[in-house]
Amino acid sequence: MVLTDEETAMLNGDKGAAVQKAMQILVALGESFGAERLVAVNNVHMAGSSVLVAEEAGTRFVEDIRKQGGKFVTRVTTNPTAVDPSQWKEIGIPESDSILQTRLTDAYAGMGANSCNTCIPYLVGNMPRFGEHMAWGESSAVVFANSVCGARTNREGGPSGLASALTGRTPEYGFHLKHNRYGKFLIKVETQLRDMTDFGTLGYFAGKIAGQDTPVFTGVATTPTLEDLKALSAALASSGSVSMFHAVGVTPEAPTVEEAFGGRTPDKVLVFGDAEKAAAEAALNREPSDHVDWILVGCPNASVQEIREVADALQGKKVHQDVALWVTTAGAMYAMAERNGYIKTIEDAGGIVVRETCPFLARSRVIAPSKGYKTLTTNSAKMAFYAPGQFGLPTHYGNLGRVMQAAIDGVWR
Ligand code: F3S
Repeated sequence: MVLTDEETAMLNGDKGAAVQKAMQILVALGESFGAERLVAVNNVHMAGSSVLVAEEAGTRFVEDIRKQGGKFVTRVTTNPTAVDPSQWKEIGIPESDSILQTRLTDAYAGMGANSCNTCIPYLVGNMPRFGEHMAWGESSAVVFANSVCGARTNREGGPSGLASALTGRTPEYGFHLKHNRYGKFLIKVETQLRDMTDFGTLGYFAGKIAGQDTPVFTGVATTPTLEDLKALSAALASSGSVSMFHAVGVTPEAPTVEEAFGGRTPDKVLVFGDAEKAAAEAALNREPSDHVDWILVGCPNASVQEIREVADALQGKKVHQDVALWVTTAGAMYAMAERNGYIKTIEDAGGIVVRETCPFLARSRVIAPSKGYKTLTTNSAKMAFYAPGQFGLPTHYGNLGRVMQAAIDGVWR
C-alpha cells in the first residue's frame, strides 16, 4: 500500500503507541484485501460495543488503547450494548455483564465516542451523506448507509472500526470503490409489500440467494418508509452477507436498472411473488405450537413511529400476564416517545421499553431460561432468523398487528 507521509509517521509510532497499533491493523487489513491506499474518514459506527461480543479480553483491549493515550479523531457512535442501564436487573441481565459493560462503555466514551448505543445511528444524529467514506460496523446499518444514503462503507469489525476512529483512515477497497457498488442480480418484486415485515421477508429471501452480492430490486411500487428500508437492510445482512442493495427508483444510485448494474447484464433474474413471500414467511415461523411468552419489537431498534404503533395497539388493552413484551430502542428514541406519552401507554399495559440493548446483544441464553421463555415472537425477519441458532428459541414471525394481538391474547394465531 502507498501511504502518505502522515500515515507513515503514524505507522512508525510518531503519534503514540495507540495510533501505531491502529495503523498496523489498517495496513494489514488493506493489504489482505488488495487496497492500494487508505482513504480519509470522519465517521465511525463502532460494532463490538456489547460485552457479549467483546467479553473480558476485548474490554481489556479497548481499555489498554485508552491507557496508551488513544483519542478518537472522528465522529464515533456506538452499537447496542449488552445492558439496559436502568432496568437490567428486572429483565434478567446478569450483574457481571452490567459491571463489565460499564467498563467497556466508559473506555469508548473516554476516547471520545458518543455512547448512543444503538443500531440506528442514522436516527440519532449520525446521518451519513451521499458519497461519504465511512467505517461502520453493524451489518444492518451498513446496508442502510450504503444503499439508502449512498454513503460508502465496508462492514467493519470492532478492531478495524477502533483503528479508523484513532487514525481517521480506512483501507480503500470493496464498497469504497464505485465499480464494486453495482448490482449483481435482479429480483423482480411482483407482490405487494404492505409493511416493514413484508420488506423484511423480501430481505430474508434475497439475502439467502445473494451471499455477498448486491441485489437490485424492481417493482417496489409504493414509496417505502424509513422503517421499511431499515427492515429490508437488516434482513439482507442476516440471511446473507449483503452490504448494499439497489431499489430502482428508490435508492440514490439506482435511478434506472442500467445505472444500478453499471451497464452490465444481471448474473440472474428472480421473481419475488406471492408464493415466494409465503414460503419465506413460513421458513421464519419455526415454532409449530401457539405458545407465546417473549415478544420482541424493535430489531433494528424501534423508531418513534414504531413505538407509537405499539402504543396505539395497546390503547385500553393489557399485555397478557404470561407474556413479556419488549420494545427495544435507542435512548434518544425513548426520550421522544416518553415526551409523546407512548412509553407510559406501553408500560401501563404491561410492556417494557428496553434501551441500549436487544436480545441478540444481551445474554439471552441466560435471560431466557431464567425467565422461562421458550419461544420468541417478533415482526423482525432479522430477529426471527437469528433467535433459533443464537439463543435457542424457535420463532413466531408476522406483522406488527399479528404480533401485538399475540401480546394481548397470549397465543399465536
Ligand atoms: Fe439492532 Fe439487535 Fe436487531 S443490534 S439490528 S436490534 S439484532
